[in-house]
Amino acid sequence: MKLRIPQRLAALTPYQPGKPIEEVEREMGLADTVKLASNENPLGPSPKALEAARKALLSAHRYPDGSGYYLRHALSAKLGVPPRRIVLGNGSTELVELIARTFLGEDGEAVISEGAFVMYGIAVQAPVGEARFVPQAPGYRHDAAAMAAAVGSKTRLMFFANPNNPTGTYIRDHEMAHVLQRVPQEVLVIVDEAYHEYVSVPDYPVNIPRLERHPNLILLRTFSKVHGLAGLRIGYALVGSDEIAETLERVRSPFNTSSIAQAAAIAALNDDEHILRSSSTNLTEMKFLEKGLASMGVSFVSSVANFVLVLLGPRAEEISRAMLGQGVIVRAMRFFGFPEAVRITVGTRSENERCLSALARSLRQAGGPGESGRGAAEVDEVDEKQA
Ligand SMILES: Cc1ncc(COP(=O)(O)O)c(C=O)c1O
Repeated sequence: MKLRIPQRLAALTPYQPGKPIEEVEREMGLADTVKLASNENPLGPSPKALEAARKALLSAHRYPDGSGYYLRHALSAKLGVPPRRIVLGNGSTELVELIARTFLGEDGEAVISEGAFVMYGIAVQAPVGEARFVPQAPGYRHDAAAMAAAVGSKTRLMFFANPNNPTGTYIRDHEMAHVLQRVPQEVLVIVDEAYHEYVSVPDYPVNIPRLERHPNLILLRTFSKVHGLAGLRIGYALVGSDEIAETLERVRSPFNTSSIAQAAAIAALNDDEHILRSSSTNLTEMKFLEKGLASMGVSFVSSVANFVLVLLGPRAEEISRAMLGQGVIVRAMRFFGFPEAVRITVGTRSENERCLSALARSLRQAGGPGESGRGAAEVDEVDEKQA
């Protein structure tokens, strides 16, 4: 059979997710592996969400509420955004794809930072769009001003990851204000805040009030990170105008979020204790990891999220394979555009200890940190320590 596959699809590389623990253990004959490869919550799901999901399973023979009425109202009560301006997605990545499919049009273009979360490029290029990649600013940061300046007549969308995965860096409040002021209202500004609950720096933008003033603003959020529900696939978009929400609703698949996920999300949203415990554990453990990395003489990018980009030089992939051999799964970052780095998700104390000792051993085997990994400094050339 000779399928007629569009040329641009033949050129796309599929997203490479972190390997599931079961797959690694099966393939490598290991047990007791530690997975620090997909920026998940090491404390697990909110217990309240688990209870709600169990109850919802009893009605699994029914289709879900396609409008997600109760979840949208719960989000509205918590965040102060009208329910009609909240769109639910099968994880926030589905919303990235939905937005690209809906708004790019025949010959539209999206402005994206180099080194940004890779799904933006894939979602834009898979249907019909062009991606205009803007070089990063020093310190592995989005260059927000250069991105705003790159907007042209074909630009329909701009994607900002704040904080960004895999760099862990963030866009400052004044940079966000500049973008929203500068960019014409026909261009949708999408700010992906998947990790916002982890951020504790004072100049991180609080964007929800901006939805009132900027009808072209879209904020993306997820239950996959601090809420610990990555396996249930649920996220949401907060949008600046009814028009955006209504258009997305026309394209969205009717039952894109399951009844189990909706029920769990409502409970997780209001489980403040779990949110707080998860974010404060992350802060403590991030410091522990950073200290361990610095004591080995390894460079890393200062992160405000729940993962850290570790700069290991040309041997990064070899080192990540050696760590895998010791039962610690981290993520080599070639596919994300950083061939000399691995990304480590912050785990529990015992997971982080295992990770650091596996890294130390792998580094010794590889003869120490490579060229770009040499020197104990964290990389943050721009200004103050971020977290
Ligand atoms: C920046 C960013 N946005 C979105 C996602 C995906 O979230 P979801 O599980 O809601 O699709 C990730 C996951 O790693 C991410 O890093």
